[in-house]
Amino acid sequence: MTKNRHPSGIKMSKDAIKIVATKTPKPPRNEPAIRVVMMPRDTNGEGSIFGGVILSYIDQAAYVEALRQAPHRYVTVSMKEVVFKEPVRVGDVLSLYGQATRIGRTSMTISVKVMAGRFSNPTEIARVTEAEVVMVAIGDNCEPREIEMD
Ligand SMILES: CC(C)(COP(=O)(O)OP(=O)(O)OC[C@H]1O[C@@H](n2cnc3c(N)ncnc32)[C@H](O)[C@@H]1OP(=O)(O)O)[C@@H](O)C(=O)NCCC(=O)NCCS
Repeated sequence: MTKNRHPSGIKMSKDAIKIVATKTPKPPRNEPAIRVVMMPRDTNGEGSIFGGVILSYIDQAAYVEALRQAPHRYVTVSMKEVVFKEPVRVGDVLSLYGQATRIGRTSMTISVKVMAGRFSNPTEIARVTEAEVVMVAIGDNCEPREIEMD
């Protein structure tokens, strides 16, 4: 069978092949993928936390969620526009929630939501930002490999 044929034998476009290859993600879990305390070393000149530090945690949360969905090695191929809506400060506890929204042949799209529990008032939870991260499963040669679900 050629690469561009559905098992039924129908010839398909590249986009149609992607739709056939989409798998169903596992349902969300209630707890965050990661939780982390913001430290003085992570501050910018304004005394709030560097955006790049939070981007790094978003990347980690997406990776943890990707592993929960299917245990492979992953690299990040893209992160869509990230808008910081609230500042994060030293002592805040960040909770990053991840949920896979699409699993393709070799790539997985993960939505990450970032919430901050305030050091000054731990009952106050701020919605800091959210991001859409695409991770690609790779094999031993670092080339994309098919994602295999449990
Ligand atoms: C990620 C990487 C392995 C993809 O290699 P590639 O040859 O472009 O792979 P393909 O074109 O076969 O695409 C693989 C998958 O990624 C997806 N993809 C590729 N580029 C993408 C992009 N810009 N945005 C979203 N998805 C993308 C494809 O749709 C495909 O998904 P699918 O199989 O589920 O349909 C390669 O680009 C790479 O190694 N990049 C560096 C990754 C890295 O080191 N990240 C850490 C930060 S430096």
